Amino acid sequence: MAGFPTVRLRRLRMTAPLRRMVRETALGPDDFIYPLFVMPGKGRVEEIPSMPGQHRFTVDRLPAEVEEAARLGIPAVILFGIPEAKDELASGAYAPDGIVQQAIRAAKKAVPEMVVMADVCLCEYMSHGHCGVVRDGAVDNDATLDLLARTAVSLAEAGADVVAPSDMMDGRVAAIRRALDAQGFSLVPILSYAAKYASAFYGPFRDAACSAPAFGDRRSHQMDPANRREAMREIALDLEEGADAVMVKPALAYLDVLREARRRFDVPLAAYNVSGEYAMVKAAAARGWLDERAVVLEILTAIKRAGADWILTYHAKDACRWLAAGGC
Ligand code: PBG
Repeated sequence: MAGFPTVRLRRLRMTAPLRRMVRETALGPDDFIYPLFVMPGKGRVEEIPSMPGQHRFTVDRLPAEVEEAARLGIPAVILFGIPEAKDELASGAYAPDGIVQQAIRAAKKAVPEMVVMADVCLCEYMSHGHCGVVRDGAVDNDATLDLLARTAVSLAEAGADVVAPSDMMDGRVAAIRRALDAQGFSLVPILSYAAKYASAFYGPFRDAACSAPAFGDRRSHQMDPANRREAMREIALDLEEGADAVMVKPALAYLDVLREARRRFDVPLAAYNVSGEYAMVKAAAARGWLDERAVVLEILTAIKRAGADWILTYHAKDACRWLAAGGC
């Protein structure tokens, strides 16, 4: 076996073109799914305090943002809604003129070729902020499935290209698939948040979507951050139930989970670079402690290297601009 000084790995690192030639992971706009928040009202775009650079849009202001994402080459957006009113049956989630239903129509009208994904969860629409129907102080799994299925059908009726259940109830992919098929949406794919952890990194999102639980937490349905083997079971079950693509969430503290999922499952794999991961980078960059561009491109490259086909990221627009200007 030849070793040093015959072997010198630095040889192929000496110039930028050589580095480009041996680069194993290429990041591009096609990798990104851009999350967007929609709120009631007219003519307003408000910045989310804990997510600098991210905004809540009223439906009429959404098309301009979707058009900009399309111009940058981003193929997909995922929509989250802040409803006018919340109740104990999350009726805003499946109302025909619900906030996300309106947003889907507006986005598809503005940019028909944009893949418009809709998050399927009830927490934003429940007065108590939990992801399902609460009975005796606990989330009732089976009573929730019906509402999730209704929500998915309603989002598909509004024109969603993909539905993405993020609630972590057992059996929800099967319930959603059955309902979609029964209503004539057998070609609408399901991107399942299959391995979604009970993570503190969702804090800024819950501010953005006003979806923090009023009592308790989500540990009875979201996964324990300590578990990796269990994530593989979650993914396998969701695929058996009919998921077309699966997700690991969050991304950065879970790259090992992502890697393991990549090794085991030959299906499209998404990773969610979540709100807390975004907020940390923005906060440090604002203080001049990190080079935002370099750090963001490094993070997104690492998520892709670990195995993600799709990256849901609030950095999507910036990353496209930076990559167009010459990458890392
Ligand atoms: C649930 C949902 C959450 C996120 C995406 N979908 C929040 C939660 O589970 O509490 C978090 C995304 C992020 O932090 O960026 N509707």
